[in-house]
Amino acid sequence: MSVPIRPIADPSARADAAKILRAGGLVAFATETVYGLGADATDETAVARIFAAKGRPRFNPLISHVPDVETAFALGQATAAARTVAEAFWPGPLTLVLRRTEDCPIAWLTSAGLDTVAIRVPGSADARALLAEAGRPVAAPSANRSGRVSPTIAAHVAAEGFEGLDLILDGGACAVGLESTVLDVSGDRPRLLRPGSVTREQIEALVGSIELAGHGDAITAPGMLASHYAPAAPVRLNATTLRDGEVGLDFAGQLGAATDLSASGDPVEAAANLFALLRALDRPGIAAIAVAPVPEAGLGAAINDRLRRAAAPRG
Ligand code: TXA
Ligand code: MG
Repeated sequence: MSVPIRPIADPSARADAAKILRAGGLVAFATETVYGLGADATDETAVARIFAAKGRPRFNPLISHVPDVETAFALGQATAAARTVAEAFWPGPLTLVLRRTEDCPIAWLTSAGLDTVAIRVPGSADARALLAEAGRPVAAPSANRSGRVSPTIAAHVAAEGFEGLDLILDGGACAVGLESTVLDVSGDRPRLLRPGSVTREQIEALVGSIELAGHGDAITAPGMLASHYAPAAPVRLNATTLRDGEVGLDFAGQLGAATDLSASGDPVEAAANLFALLRALDRPGIAAIAVAPVPEAGLGAAINDRLRRAAAPRG
């Protein structure tokens, strides 16, 4: 069955979309950059559905979209540089990486377990109206399957045939047509993680010289930082029995352990639990962690990628 396509300019279509988002569903929507595949950024399971639909072999951190600057800085800590560029370029095609605020409700899966969040206030007024109506941050990577180009018209999104997609909000052709500029302003010196239509020169005119990361670093850099993902205790994978002193992380009841990624063996549920459980197991008193085998199919590949990082020898 094909996914309904409705105009994002239609208030009743946006109201229905907001309802779907609040219920944990998937809505693709037009922004001025590219179409995004959106879900409630605070709902681990809804975000897991994005990864399942895209067929991503890894959990890359996703951008959370919000209707205004005030909401953005309730989620991520505003540095001086962040405020300066936000004032100049928001709403617009700029994403800021910020340290999470104390009570930030963004799901750990959205930020791939990182202590930072990526936030954008889109330039499209209809997209902002949708976000305001949803009443929560909306995680949205580009609405294409992994490895394909970003869609800039609704028909491209429909052609991807996403499983679990409930509605497409059509805003015509995207004015920018290129993903947003990603700027990390969480540290002392801003770093350009992904070039976009807000240029390095425009940013440097406001905040002085910035560091450049090679294209793709925005994707690879967080994953390279093993400490972001690895609990302090050693992690043993593909465990079928618990050894003395080990705490178990189970899948489908294979280990008989107390803590389950998914008792029923559902990879979407396991993905939704993964980062929160790794964090919960990262505390004094836990000497060793044993993880049951997770099948590679579907989201299993991304789950195993992250588990292998958590188990990798510490540098
Ligand atoms: O224009 C866009 O940005 C589109 C529309 C839909 O808004 N969205 C988009 O999302 O391109 P996505 O998920 O394809 O790209 C997110 C980028 C990735 O390069 C990711 O690594 C980076 O943002 N990113 C997200 N959170 C990050 C974080 N906490 N630290 C570093 N990089 C992060
Ligand atoms: Mg993309």
